[in-house]
Amino acid sequence: MKRVFSGVKPTGHLTLGNYLGAMRRWSGVDQHEADALFCIVDLHALTVDHDPGRVRRLSRQAATLLLAAGLDPKLCTVFVQSHVDEHARLSYLLECVATDGEMRRMIQYKEKAAAERARGGSVRLSLLTYPVLMAADILAYGTDEVPVGDDQTQHVELTRDLAVRFNQRYGHTFVVPRATRPEVAARVMNLQEPTSKMGKSDDAGPGIVYLLDEPEVIRKKVMRAVTDSGRDVAYDRDGRPGVSNLLEILAACEGGNPEGLAGVYESYGSLKKDTAEAVVELLRPVQQRHKELCADPAYVEGVLREGAEKAREMARPRVDTAYRAIGLLPAG
Ligand code: AMP
Ligand code: TRP
Repeated sequence: MKRVFSGVKPTGHLTLGNYLGAMRRWSGVDQHEADALFCIVDLHALTVDHDPGRVRRLSRQAATLLLAAGLDPKLCTVFVQSHVDEHARLSYLLECVATDGEMRRMIQYKEKAAAERARGGSVRLSLLTYPVLMAADILAYGTDEVPVGDDQTQHVELTRDLAVRFNQRYGHTFVVPRATRPEVAARVMNLQEPTSKMGKSDDAGPGIVYLLDEPEVIRKKVMRAVTDSGRDVAYDRDGRPGVSNLLEILAACEGGNPEGLAGVYESYGSLKKDTAEAVVELLRPVQQRHKELCADPAYVEGVLREGAEKAREMARPRVDTAYRAIGLLPAG
């Protein structure tokens, strides 16, 4: 059975982008057709200015939402990255395989480092090495497939390069993984700025639909989405980013494809209305289940505890092998 691994950072409230780009497939095909692990990658949340209490809260919330979105601990492994030491252990070895030039070329690093500097802040070293930790997350488990949104493609490519390089230098140790992306909505855009990704953000985010937004809030955000200067509804991601984003969201919610849906609508207003309702209906069961799970925090904690135990068992042998292969003396 193939092995699938993916993760989500507890850096903000989860969004419709997270759901459509990644999480929805995790609870759909991935957990049913693969031996799958899903991780709240909390160490990654420390790469930018952070508030410890908030990271803790968001980690718990992300775990609860993953279960609410349908991850079934009987079918897959759900755990928190920092509960399994193997990630950090392997990350160091991979830092000895990666180059500093390679890290500096990462688009996400360049963007986030620039934003941090623009705010007058300093850039944490862990922001630079972050993709190596991500590679360790993936490689520790012999992962075949990594279901992620578009923005993570470059990091998975780096992971492949590191796996191949390690294997060539020190003997076959790692499976070379590949990224898989959803057919539509691999990059959900911000509703107010349709040329930027819908990312988690600290502010209220009028262009960001959060998974826990009330239906009325979702409707308002979608109805106020920035559209383009044309009048007809056409699918053209470069020329008509606002409308195309709505068509992709609608297609992802209801099935069908964005080009086909473009032909169905004559006005932006009706497209927005249907998209808003489709998102509300898509998220309704997730929100309902989230509410139920919030009343039972012991259950969520139990899932994470068992998940970490299972993950440790899975990761340790491969990471031990890597330690030996690279030349470190076994403890005996
Ligand atoms: P992050 O929020 O960066 O931890 O991302 C968790 C997962 O959600 C990754 O697989 C991302 O690629 C995916 N993702 C995040 N934002 C979006 C978006 N706007 N559109 C599609 N996928 C996304
Ligand atoms: N870097 C990913 C993101 O920002 C999160 C992540 C960390 C991840 N480790 C991973 C995703 C391993 C897939 C596999 O979205």
